[in-house]
Amino acid sequence: MKKLLYVVGSPRESASESSSIANAFIKQYKETNPHAVIDELNLWEEKITPFDGNRAAAKMTFLGYGVLEGKLRTVWDEVVEITNRFTSADDYLITVPMWNGGIPWALKQYIDTVSQPELTFGFGPEGYFPLLKNKKACVVYTSGVYSPALPKSFGLDFQMSYVDWWLGIIGVTTVHNVTLLSNILTQSSLEQDRNLAIEKAVAIAKEHFSA
Ligand SMILES: Cc1cc2nc3c(=O)[nH]c(=O)nc-3n(C[C@H](O)[C@H](O)[C@H](O)COP(=O)(O)O)c2cc1C
Repeated sequence: MKKLLYVVGSPRESASESSSIANAFIKQYKETNPHAVIDELNLWEEKITPFDGNRAAAKMTFLGYGVLEGKLRTVWDEVVEITNRFTSADDYLITVPMWNGGIPWALKQYIDTVSQPELTFGFGPEGYFPLLKNKKACVVYTSGVYSPALPKSFGLDFQMSYVDWWLGIIGVTTVHNVTLLSNILTQSSLEQDRNLAIEKAVAIAKEHFSA
């Protein structure tokens, strides 16, 4: 059965612009895929253990540093379990607010957890290569100030550029983006901009995520 993993990147609940766009996507996705399983992973409610020294040491064993045994094996098994939940999805919906030019720490921590050698990517003489196949993603980006149309003094993009790169590294190659950028500065057109973003998300769910 088809599965959508919804990774909630904003902690702002009903005030969140990205969540309201994502909710519209999900409503349409359910209509388009009535038998699909929707797995909601709220990074702010579910406690993902920080990717700490032991987890880093476990990862480094794949690069030839140390041995994966004892405590390292235990923490690695936890990482594998979290990663399996991620890789078991066919489709992804990820909400990505801009925080300080980049992405919220909880989302980065999740990315650090599921980006693992032999699970989501490999590394060889030619560099990184992806291990995921046939996955699709809809990514919702929001920012309060930043827009590519504004001068550098309004911020730079380490948000979409980073998430795009990460999805490519692991093999999620079919990616549809929805943006609602600069939403603090554009209060006068916010309602209209939001509606357009919602319309786009709904159209993506209908046209690109059909069974
Ligand atoms: C901790 C924090 C940091 C932020 N940093 C930026 C930033 O660097 N650039 C920007 O344009 N907006 C920034 N914002 C504004 C958010 O990107 C904006 O409110 C966006 O709508 C958040 O997404 P959400 O509504 O889904 O939570 C920040 C907001 C918070 C709470």
